[in-house]
Amino acid sequence: MNDHREAPLLDVRSLAVSYGDVEVIWQADLMVPKGSIVALIGSNGAGKTTLLRTIAGALPPRQGAIRVDGTDVTGDTARDRVRRGLVLVPEGRRLFTGLSVYDNLLLGAYARADKAEAKRDVERMYALFPRLAERRRQDASTLSGGEQQMCAIARGLMAAPRLLLIDELSLGLAPSVVEELITALKRINRDGTSLLVVEQDVAVAFDFADLAYVLDQGRSGAGGPVADVAADPAVRRAYLGI
Ligand SMILES: Nc1ncnc2c1ncn2[C@@H]1O[C@H](COP(=O)(O)OP(=O)(O)O)[C@@H](O)[C@H]1O
Ligand SMILES: [Mg+2]
Repeated sequence: MNDHREAPLLDVRSLAVSYGDVEVIWQADLMVPKGSIVALIGSNGAGKTTLLRTIAGALPPRQGAIRVDGTDVTGDTARDRVRRGLVLVPEGRRLFTGLSVYDNLLLGAYARADKAEAKRDVERMYALFPRLAERRRQDASTLSGGEQQMCAIARGLMAAPRLLLIDELSLGLAPSVVEELITALKRINRDGTSLLVVEQDVAVAFDFADLAYVLDQGRSGAGGPVADVAADPAVRRAYLGI
């Protein structure tokens, strides 16, 4: 691909990933256009976390290519990908225990050179998630599940991502908290950050994403504009029970 202006922000082609000899992803294809919100759905064990970790550079693929703005980053380290703007909010949030909300947020900016600007960004995170402002001095491990997710997303944003990858946005959280998170994500997206979100609640995913992709036992299934995927009879049967 020579015309990088036309390339999607993220382009995943024919990806295959294994843990040792155990093949987990056989054929994954996915695209995130600039400025979009993309949902990745699929049942437990389908390989969603593996796919996100591979995109973020935590796992090497066995086959296939990952491109950012048309540039092949398949061989790049995780740190290089953070510099390119790919930032992962991991499953289970993985906050730094024993550190305050504030310190967790600042650590999110570790790869940035503009430390003064990063400090100003902490204030932007507090504006986005007022609950974090109230708890800025609190040990992050003492936050509620919803607050931990806010802190994990804010920490990810502190890396100044162009594409934020979020693994299991709503898992274990109350519907009112999920609504709060989605309102914040829509704002983040309006401000220019693209999103790739693994979401087990398919109705929630269809509600806020522009595009959706199904991963079924390590293979890409339906994918495209959310209205098309939501109308797919196989998707409706498998994931919506209708
Ligand atoms: N570190 C690992 N080593 C070996 N197998 C793993 C590892 N992590 C996940 N798996 C396996 O890979 C498959 C996909 O897992 P995962 O990517 O976590 O799926 P999902 O996030 O869709 O639930 C599962 O069968 C899981 O048991
Ligand atoms: Mg997972």
